[in-house]
Amino acid sequence: MKTTDVKAYTNGKNNGIQVFVCKDYDALSKKAAAIVSGEINKKAKFVLGLATGTSPIGLYTELAELNAEGKVDFAGVTTYNLDEYYPIDAENDQSYRYFMNKYLFNKVNIDMDNTHLLWGKAPDAEAECKAYDEAIVAAGNVDLQVLGIGCNGHIGFNEPGDKFIMGTHKVELTENTIEANSRLFNSADEVPRFALSMGIGAIMNAKSIVLVANGKNKAEAIRNALEGEITPWCQASILRLHKNVVFVIDEDAASALTEYKAI
Ligand code: F6R
Repeated sequence: MKTTDVKAYTNGKNNGIQVFVCKDYDALSKKAAAIVSGEINKKAKFVLGLATGTSPIGLYTELAELNAEGKVDFAGVTTYNLDEYYPIDAENDQSYRYFMNKYLFNKVNIDMDNTHLLWGKAPDAEAECKAYDEAIVAAGNVDLQVLGIGCNGHIGFNEPGDKFIMGTHKVELTENTIEANSRLFNSADEVPRFALSMGIGAIMNAKSIVLVANGKNKAEAIRNALEGEITPWCQASILRLHKNVVFVIDEDAASALTEYKAI
């Protein structure tokens, strides 16, 4: 990665947000991996919050390479994923458990017992959500949370609405999200109608957050998150109240920003 591939942006205000705009997806993935691996290497026991979706695949591929090169060690890492479809079997190739095994867990020296996802077949969704929040708190909260962002500004499956929901909860997916996710299923009919998702509380309790986004279809959400009103109608906008957030985005995703400029 050349230094010119990544530019720091600022809006001139001294806040807890850092924004890095990367030349392309490859540079974005390398930059995000450098941040995440750097943080993991600082602590013997590390709690890593993870996202699925297409945005972090490059980051996970880079982390697996760094792991193979001996530059980051997952032996002391415990993970908590943001969300899982509901209902879904872990073995289903559309489940987020399957995704994580495929793109990260099977490729690094992590102890599988230390990888946690919400159980998509939990008989009692409410009890599952409560236990998940308790487990995260018992683990000392997330050290670093990886996030993507939906075109509607969602983080995890925290969809636009009139409030921020703090706890892990069951969500009815919006048509917008079902439509966006249907590309990964044979048809929109096969996309589960519900998900279990970490709430805004566990995300905001993470000690640091790295959000990755690429592509023109994310430009509006990124602008709303960084420059719009802080409102539950753009759930990612709440990240501006966090003290340690890094946005690692590509030029397309940055293309609607007006207040943020390259330093
Ligand atoms: C997935 C998740 C979602 C995605 C978002 C963007 O665990 O939490 O919020 O991050 O829908 O998805 P992609 O990266 O596929 O555009």
